[in-house]
Amino acid sequence: MRFDILTIFPKIFDSYFSETIIKRALKKKLIQINMHNIRDFTTDKHHTVDDRPYGGGPGMIFKLEPIFQALKKINRRKKSKIVLLTPTGKQFNQQMANRFAKLDQLILIAGRYEGIDARVDKLVSDKVSIGPYVLSGGELPAMVIIEAVTRLIPGVLGHKDSAKSDSFTLNKEYLEYPQYTRPAKFKKWSAPSVLLTGNHKLIEAWRKKKSNIARKNKTEK
Ligand code: ADE
Repeated sequence: MRFDILTIFPKIFDSYFSETIIKRALKKKLIQINMHNIRDFTTDKHHTVDDRPYGGGPGMIFKLEPIFQALKKINRRKKSKIVLLTPTGKQFNQQMANRFAKLDQLILIAGRYEGIDARVDKLVSDKVSIGPYVLSGGELPAMVIIEAVTRLIPGVLGHKDSAKSDSFTLNKEYLEYPQYTRPAKFKKWSAPSVLLTGNHKLIEAWRKKKSNIARKNKTEK
């Protein structure tokens, strides 16, 4: 999988990509991440990426041409999508992550400022939001999507089944039981004694019960 990120703040990504699973996936060449600074695709002296909105109004609007030029430079793989990150997009979820993980390439455009020239619609295949709230830009959403997709790529996670058994991936059997580790007692808080019995049948029944409770609580909220 190759990720291409269009942004005016490429440095924001550095520390995140140099740690944990992203770092490992890069090292193992299971993913590739290419940064494209939108400013590099401007033609004026000041490298202007935004301008005032036609018709007036507050704020500045991301210009279309630098994005167009940046996209033109990117080598396209066969199964590829161009995704604009915007709070008005379709809400990202695990199913979308699963679909993205099957692609060869995901091109993510991180917008900024008050908005982006609406003709960007002509250039993208999808518009995606990571949730019903407004951030200052698409950089964090791009990281969220890259993380969610990368961990689904075979070979990225240590244990081959750990992504599969995630509570969101497994639609039916939610494994949302609480987990504990040593010490068995910390201050006055004890881990459930059933988990220390070594009786796998009992433990499984307990976990199933707890998963059902967690699921029920979630749907009632
Ligand atoms: N840009 C600003 N807010 C966003 C959001 N919630 N999702 C995706 N991109 C955004």
